[in-house]
Amino acid sequence: MIAIRHSVCVCLVALVFQLVQSAPAADDVGELLDALLSRIETLEASDAANKAKIVEMEAEFKLRQSESEREILVLKETIKKMESNFKHKEETLLKRIYEQELSTFSNSNGDTTENKLDENNNFDPTPIRENGIQKRRSSIRKIREVPEIETAFYATHVVHNNHDLGANQVIPFQQTVTNNGNAYNNNTSVFVAPVDGTYVFHGTVMGIDIPSGHSHMKAHFDVDGTKYSVFYVSGYDQSSQMLVINLKAGQSVSLRNDYLDAGFIGKHYSSFSGFLLYQHSSVTNIVGK
Ligand SMILES: *[C@@H]1O[C@H](CO)[C@@H](O)[C@H](O)[C@H]1NC(C)=O
Ligand SMILES: *[C@@H]1O[C@H](CO)[C@@H](O)[C@H](O)[C@H]1NC(C)=O
Repeated sequence: MIAIRHSVCVCLVALVFQLVQSAPAADDVGELLDALLSRIETLEASDAANKAKIVEMEAEFKLRQSESEREILVLKETIKKMESNFKHKEETLLKRIYEQELSTFSNSNGDTTENKLDENNNFDPTPIRENGIQKRRSSIRKIREVPEIETAFYATHVVHNNHDLGANQVIPFQQTVTNNGNAYNNNTSVFVAPVDGTYVFHGTVMGIDIPSGHSHMKAHFDVDGTKYSVFYVSGYDQSSQMLVINLKAGQSVSLRNDYLDAGFIGKHYSSFSGFLLYQHSSVTNIVGK
């Protein structure tokens, strides 16, 4: 407003100066002053309108701001509800898992569902949640853990020079250094799988007699009449093969010589060994599988 008045005053001074210069009639001056006053009124009116508009916009802005704030509050409330809903679901789930565990396994420490009820007979999931994951993990492990069946053997031959092996004869390794579980028979030199499982075998043969008509002696793993892992053996040289195989309980594995009249060096130059890598579980209800 001051700015407007100021500019109007400047105009007025200029005008009066002009009037004095040109010395106009008194009527002209009156008309000009009227025009100026009406111009001032117009400017003042539009200024007031602008101010009113600003106030209006400010009010609208405040309204929107409070609306946004309200929306944020609603969202926070929704999140809170979802959280409590989730917590409830988690508790229900934990309770169900716990009850399932109870019915699946005999619980050695006498832990029962009743212990998880508070004084109002409500289910209290806190102890379960606290060690819940740990407990579930260990119970999963409990199922997956195969029963401890010790099956591992390592056998060699007591005698140094061994001649005259028959065709397809089991190469004898009667000296058992290791025979955990006695699945390997050191009389027959045959291993018999005690359980269904994945087994690992290893054989090393050092040759001495190369059968006539052959440049090498030859050996292989035999699983119930099926040949695996065939290998050639030179005189005074060693050859090895490994066999990783799934066996059913009762299947037998041996290391056999192929050609008639082969010979090998025993003692600790040749060996036959094997072990159960893991048992195949017959439990069908495996958690987490
Ligand atoms: C053969 O096996 C039996 C039973 O495991 C063991 O007592 C014996 O010492 C073994 N014989 C040799 C020569 O390793
Ligand atoms: C091996 O044969 C001997 C003699 O017949 C017997 O006493 C022993 O129990 C047999 N060992 C195995 C592991 O079969």
